[in-house]
Amino acid sequence: MLRDKGFEVDVSEKDGVLTREELLTGLKQKPYDGVLCLLTDKIDGEVFEAVPQAKIFANYAVGFDNVDLKAAQERGVTVTNTPGVLTDTVAEHTVALMLAISSRIAEGDRFVRAGNYDGWAPMMLLGTDLKGKTLGILGAGRIGARVAHICAHGLGMNVIYYDIKQSPEFEAATGGAFRADVESVLREADVVSVHVPLLDATRHLLNADRLRMMKSSAYLINTSRGPVIDEAALVEALKGGVIRGAALDVFENEPALAPGLAQCENAVLTPHTASATDETREKMAEIAAENLIAFFEGRVPPNAVPMAS
Ligand code: GLV
Ligand code: GLV
Repeated sequence: MLRDKGFEVDVSEKDGVLTREELLTGLKQKPYDGVLCLLTDKIDGEVFEAVPQAKIFANYAVGFDNVDLKAAQERGVTVTNTPGVLTDTVAEHTVALMLAISSRIAEGDRFVRAGNYDGWAPMMLLGTDLKGKTLGILGAGRIGARVAHICAHGLGMNVIYYDIKQSPEFEAATGGAFRADVESVLREADVVSVHVPLLDATRHLLNADRLRMMKSSAYLINTSRGPVIDEAALVEALKGGVIRGAALDVFENEPALAPGLAQCENAVLTPHTASATDETREKMAEIAAENLIAFFEGRVPPNAVPMAS
């Protein structure tokens, strides 16, 4: 799209996460006017200084916690993201994780492949039904609402939710009931699914104390950002039966896992692939390109991230 518009485009050759050094050196190659960056690129003052002409950074992600917005604002840099197009995809992955943990899909798959299946047995690998259970949503934005909708209408779950403010749209779409604090959701829910952005206020939102408020039969699902959960505390909770299981697409120190997590049979783990479908990755690319094109054509980019006023 960018080349069709006549822009000169350089694409980093590496298929994988750029090191800090590679990112900085790469950006110093030419006086670039704009940058399309990934969620694994930590974009801060030093990066902006490395490519001072670039007044737009188009993040190829809906989340933008990898970008220092204050540093951007100080330098007059516009930051854009890719909201909307990945909502359904991430919601489907979230529900897939929920079903995988409650029906013990990944564990069963490992069991069969290991050659341990030597005959049907009534009590083998028992899971949990979701119908009639209570889903607790933390963060009632686009993705949280879509997950709640699928679970309410498709699985027959009851929905409760917490957000910083009550959402009539969320309630209309999901039949969900508002709870005024996170703790109420944790105490009541059979499945807790996290859909908050990573902010100072949401870092370790789920810590050891809060995990202990959950039912011992409950599952925790996270497709938002890893640092929202204290992962070391979660490993202890999974080992100690504080909760029944967890399904995670994101981790506190990606790509590393907290010690012991990989050994937890009651955890389902995917490598930050909740938005990784053919259709959605294509649309994210289009949106990121469209944001750059709009900016260079003097229009307001459709997905400019609001800066503090
Ligand atoms: C993926 O994690 C995204 O924020 O788009
Ligand atoms: C299970 O396979 C059943 O028939 O109940």
